[in-house]
Amino acid sequence: MTDLSKTYGPWAIIAGGSEGIGLCFARQLAAAGINLVLLARRQAALDDARATLAADYDVEVRVHSIDLTARDLEKELESIVAGLNIGLMIYNAGAMHGAEWFVDGSLAKAQQLINLNCHGPAVFCHLLGKPMRDRGRGGIILMSSLSGLAGGAYVATYAATKSFDIVFAEALWAEMKPFGVDVLGLVAGATDTPSMARSGIDFNSGGFTPMRPEDVATEGLQQLAHGPVHVAGDSNRAVADLLRADRVQAIELLSSGAASMFNKPFPIASQE
Ligand SMILES: NC(=O)c1ccc[n+]([C@@H]2O[C@H](COP(=O)([O-])OP(=O)(O)OC[C@H]3O[C@@H](n4cnc5c(N)ncnc54)[C@H](OP(=O)(O)O)[C@@H]3O)[C@@H](O)[C@H]2O)c1
Repeated sequence: MTDLSKTYGPWAIIAGGSEGIGLCFARQLAAAGINLVLLARRQAALDDARATLAADYDVEVRVHSIDLTARDLEKELESIVAGLNIGLMIYNAGAMHGAEWFVDGSLAKAQQLINLNCHGPAVFCHLLGKPMRDRGRGGIILMSSLSGLAGGAYVATYAATKSFDIVFAEALWAEMKPFGVDVLGLVAGATDTPSMARSGIDFNSGGFTPMRPEDVATEGLQQLAHGPVHVAGDSNRAVADLLRADRVQAIELLSSGAASMFNKPFPIASQE
């Protein structure tokens, strides 16, 4: 078992750390004695997270309200991490909210998701990755999704951006592992998070049994040293094997899953 504090301390930063999987990462890292910087948009949720973590663990917890889709993200991040020795970066934010055909949806919304899931991870990895490599130790986790393993109708932008996160993690793993920095693309399936609950998603109608966010975080930390990619959960790993085996089947499986979760009709492209 990795000594988390020795390998990834003294500070971890979690982009999207106020709730759900991000907050579960925070709890597990705090329990290991790692100080935390938590980022999210809603200040109240950040303050709650800081209060509970500070009550339960003897670590320093800093919170910053920030929109990860901002164009001047790099400048903001620079000032947040100034003077801190960040040994672990987890880019967790990035879920999809709602589903629609790409050409019917708002282009601005798609661009926000691209900022959140592609521009954001690029900025974080660029700014924080180099000092880790120079120090010869550190860890980076990029949250991805089963949706990133194949394109799916209704979730085109989400799937494509999550695919970016997997491929980006693979490449950074290849570049950084020889210098002692662990990189993991962590692929989650349906997970019972507050964000999903708020978005009104119905996992049951899609036939999914959601994982608990704490289990996703636990697997992520356990597998961080064994990148480049890990799919959390036995049943998700079985789905991932199917998705990798047959692209058209994969696309139809993901499309029908999204269609049923959002009560949408599903045309099967391969039978047209
Ligand atoms: N839940 C699932 O079923 C599921 C399935 C597969 C993969 N995943 C992946 O797991 C990760 C976490 O998902 P989640 O369900 O917990 O939902 P999420 O909506 O990504 O929220 C997670 C955290 O990110 C913050 N956040 C979201 N957008 C942000 C922004 N623009 N700027 C700053 N912070 C932001 C949220 O706080 P604020 O709202 O206050 O900003 C919250 O702390 C995502 O990358 C998602 O793709 C989730």
